[in-house]
Amino acid sequence: MTLPRIRVRPGNRLVGTVDVPGAKNSVLKLMAACLMADGDYVLTNVPGIDDVTTMANLLGAIGLRITHDPGRARLEISNPGNLQLVAPYELVEQIRASINVLGPLLGRFGEVRIALPGGDDFGSRPIDMHLSGLAAMGAEFTIRHGDVHAVADRLYGAEITLDFPSVGATENLVTAAVFAKGTTIIDNAAREPEIVDLCNMLVAMGARIEGVGSSTITIHGVERDELRPVNHAVIPDRVQAATYVAAAAITGGEVTVRNAVPEHMEMLLRRFGDMGITVEPQHNGVLVVGPDKLRSIDVVTLPFPGVATDYKPLVVALLSVADSVGIVTENLYPGRFRYVDELRRLGANIRTDGHHAIVRGVPRLSGAPVHAPDIRAGAALVVAGLVADGETVISDVHHIDRGYDDLVGRLASLGADIARV
Ligand code: EPU
Repeated sequence: MTLPRIRVRPGNRLVGTVDVPGAKNSVLKLMAACLMADGDYVLTNVPGIDDVTTMANLLGAIGLRITHDPGRARLEISNPGNLQLVAPYELVEQIRASINVLGPLLGRFGEVRIALPGGDDFGSRPIDMHLSGLAAMGAEFTIRHGDVHAVADRLYGAEITLDFPSVGATENLVTAAVFAKGTTIIDNAAREPEIVDLCNMLVAMGARIEGVGSSTITIHGVERDELRPVNHAVIPDRVQAATYVAAAAITGGEVTVRNAVPEHMEMLLRRFGDMGITVEPQHNGVLVVGPDKLRSIDVVTLPFPGVATDYKPLVVALLSVADSVGIVTENLYPGRFRYVDELRRLGANIRTDGHHAIVRGVPRLSGAPVHAPDIRAGAALVVAGLVADGETVISDVHHIDRGYDDLVGRLASLGADIARV
């Protein structure tokens, strides 16, 4: 069997309109939240990505019944109530968001056994903050044979200060606290738009949450039978949106990125402005106009509202053809620079030093075979390929398929010379 690859050739300025699908890092958590009340849910604006299938398989093994209709971007999820409180390794290892079943199952059923997630291609990804927060609420853990077994007849409200505004820890603590007795206050909570989306759905289900979107989230516990299922539309994916902004910009194109929410990507768009990219908010998206020549800038990744680490490979790809030198500093995942070697194969001039990448713009990139080391890096290689002479062929595209809903079709619709081969 020949594995699919993506072939990109340079040429056209991208022009037209592209729709941004729903957010991967929202939908996966919303799906897990369907564990919290029996009955029938509908999620809409669901992206057609492989991670949704993987999460559906995990939740199916736990006992939810899930029908995915990608054509209508819709998931129907039925929770029959009789759930298996186990998340097995074969499924957990495939997807980081599987850890998001911990809070809902522990909060609702008082017990769960879940395989510890392993590392990622870009480094170690522990869950110590998830566990210490839940322990403060009264949970007890035993870790054996690679599984964590969590028990708590009832969780109790607690005041928890996170060492770092972890997205996953904030989500697990919020979902667990929904059914805790009393009030939980999470300080230094993560503020990402996907967390706001999750909290909005939980509130619609009957949870009592305040401070959503701020760094102090307060959850007043409710009884286990007080939550009910809902219909909920997933927010647009800010990283996919940023990918189309970057693709338009690198080709000097003019593209309307429909459904992009500028407030979800404000800092990035400001920095793109510093690079000479015009991004004008429209009533339902943004209009992007790329410059003749991109300007180099320095960028630091930070938790929201800073420039997200997930945008970084796109920024590095843009800097690869910008007018001078830019330094990109990674503050979340020390190992997230592996794709730099692949960009170098395209002729990029990048030096890494610890968690910094020093990117000296070159006049032209030059197409080559490369491989996608992870979702975001894969997309950045596609973007770079749009301006690399000759042909760029990207392998390991299953990484891209985890998080991108028809990247190739969407770029082709804007005039890119791109195909899956
Ligand atoms: N961390 C700890 N201990 C913890 C939790 C996190 O040390 O208990 C560290 C992590 O190792 C990492 C940093 O804190 O170095 C950030 O982790 P965080 O918990 O904020 O991230 P996450 O929930 O594991 C989500 C996204 C990532 C995204 C990060 C940061 C999902 C499924 N994943 O991960 O998205 O990079 O937030 O914004 O929501 C992607 O979509 O490609 C992706 C990797």
